[in-house]
Amino acid sequence: MSDATAKKEERRKLQAIKGTRDILPPETELWNRAEQTAHDVFSTFGFGEIRLPIFEPTELFARAVGGETDIVSKEMYSFEDRDETSISLRPEATASVCRAYIEQGMQQLPQPVKLYYTGPMFRRERPQKGRYRQFYQIGAEVLGGTDAPAIDAEVIEMLMTYFDKVGLHGATLYINSIGHNADNCRRGYVAQLKAALEKVKDQLGPDSQRRIDTNPLRVLDSKLESEQAIIATLPHIADHLCEECKAHYAAVKRQLELRGVLYEENWRLVRGLDYYMRTTFEITAPGLGSQNAVCGGGRYDGLVELLGGPPTKGIGFAIGEDRLILSLQESLPAQAGGKGQPQQGRDVYIAWMGERAYAAAVHAAKDLRKAGFSVELPPVEQKFGKALGQADKLGAKYALILGDNEVSEGLWTLKTLATGEQQKFPEPALLEYLRKL
Ligand code: HAM
Repeated sequence: MSDATAKKEERRKLQAIKGTRDILPPETELWNRAEQTAHDVFSTFGFGEIRLPIFEPTELFARAVGGETDIVSKEMYSFEDRDETSISLRPEATASVCRAYIEQGMQQLPQPVKLYYTGPMFRRERPQKGRYRQFYQIGAEVLGGTDAPAIDAEVIEMLMTYFDKVGLHGATLYINSIGHNADNCRRGYVAQLKAALEKVKDQLGPDSQRRIDTNPLRVLDSKLESEQAIIATLPHIADHLCEECKAHYAAVKRQLELRGVLYEENWRLVRGLDYYMRTTFEITAPGLGSQNAVCGGGRYDGLVELLGGPPTKGIGFAIGEDRLILSLQESLPAQAGGKGQPQQGRDVYIAWMGERAYAAAVHAAKDLRKAGFSVELPPVEQKFGKALGQADKLGAKYALILGDNEVSEGLWTLKTLATGEQQKFPEPALLEYLRKL
C-alpha cells in the first residue's frame, strides 16, 4: 500500500458508524423545539420526566419485547461485560420504564404513574431515509391504576395535541385492538390465522413463511406487494375478540370521538413487540417515504408482572423524533432549522478596531448577552469591511461598529444589515433600543 493510500485508508476509518449521524445546527434548534414542546404539552397532562440508562441487562428486553421479535433476535447491540453478564444498548424504553417502576417501588405512589422520556435508542436495522441504527424517541407511559378506555383515549389525545403544537400537519392516526392472550380471544384468533396461513404458505415470501411458526400476527404487517391480495383474505381479529376486549375497544373509539380525535381503523395493525394487548395505534406523517410511521404505541397490561412486579396496567407510545423532524422539515422549509436557513443566526456582530475599542466591545458583548442577545465578538481585529462581510455570512441582524473614534465620542454605531441603515447611540441607549426591538 502506498503512503497516500494508507493515509486515505486511515481517514476513511474515522467516520461515524453506519446508521448513526451527526445532527448539526441549525437543525438542532428544531430538535430542541420538538423536545421543549413535549415537556410543555406532556406536563399539562400530568406527566413527569424520567431519565433512564442507555444500557440494560439483555434479559430485560428479551423478556419484555420478546425473544422471537426482530428487535431482540437480530437488531440489538449486545455485548458481554467484564463480569460476563450480557448487556444491550436499549432498542426501546418501555421495558426500562417498567423495570424502573418495579425497582423504584412506584406502585406505592398515587396511581397511575405518568412518565415521559426522550433519548437515543439503538437497533441494527438496514439504514435508509427515516431509519437509523441510532435513532431518537420521545415516549410516554402510564402505569398502574385502571385500564379504563378513557386512559387510552387521553394518551392518544395528548399525542395529537403534541403533534398539533409542534406543527406536524397531515398526520393520520390508525387504531386497532389485538385483544388479550386467551383462547376465546387473541390465542383463538392466532390459531385460526395460522391455519389460514398454512393453506396459502407456498404463495408467501420466505419472511412470512417463517413467521407462520414464530409470530403469525406479524405476517399482517408485511409490505410485500405480492402478499397484499392474500393477506386481504385472512380472518380479522375484530371478529374474534372476547366480549370484554370488544367492549373496551368500542369504548376507546367513543372516548376518542368525545375528544374530537380523528382516527382510522386498521385491522392489520399488530405492532412488532410482544408486550401489547388490546389497544394498538400508529401515526403516519407525510414526506417520509416508506418509513412513514412517526409514532407507535399501545396497551401492555401484564408487562410489569412479567418483569417480576405486581399486576399493573400500562399504556404508552413512542414518537420517532428523527422522522418527526424530517416530516417537519418537508412541510415547513422556512422555519427555524428547516432547509434554506442561514448556517447560523446572530443578533449582533461586534465589528471592533483598536485596543480601546476592544475593551469596550468585550463589555458590550457581556451586557448584550446578559440581556439575551446572541452576540459574535471576533477574537482578532479585522478591517471593518471584512468584519461586515463576516457579519453578513453569519446571518447577523445588526453590526455594532466600535472604533477608537466611537469610544472617544461615547457614541456607538449600529448598522442594520438588511437595510444598510446606520444609527448612532450612547451605550445605554443602544441596549435599550435593541431591547425594544
Ligand atoms: P416502535 O414502533 O418500535 O415502538 O417505535 C416507535 C417509533 O420509533 C416508530 O414509530 C418510529 O417512528 C421510530 N423508530 C423505530 N425504529 C426506528 C429506526 N430504526 N430509525 C428511526 N426511527 C425509528 C416502541 O419502541 C415502543 N416502545 C412504543 C411504546 C411505548 N409502546 C408503548 N409504550
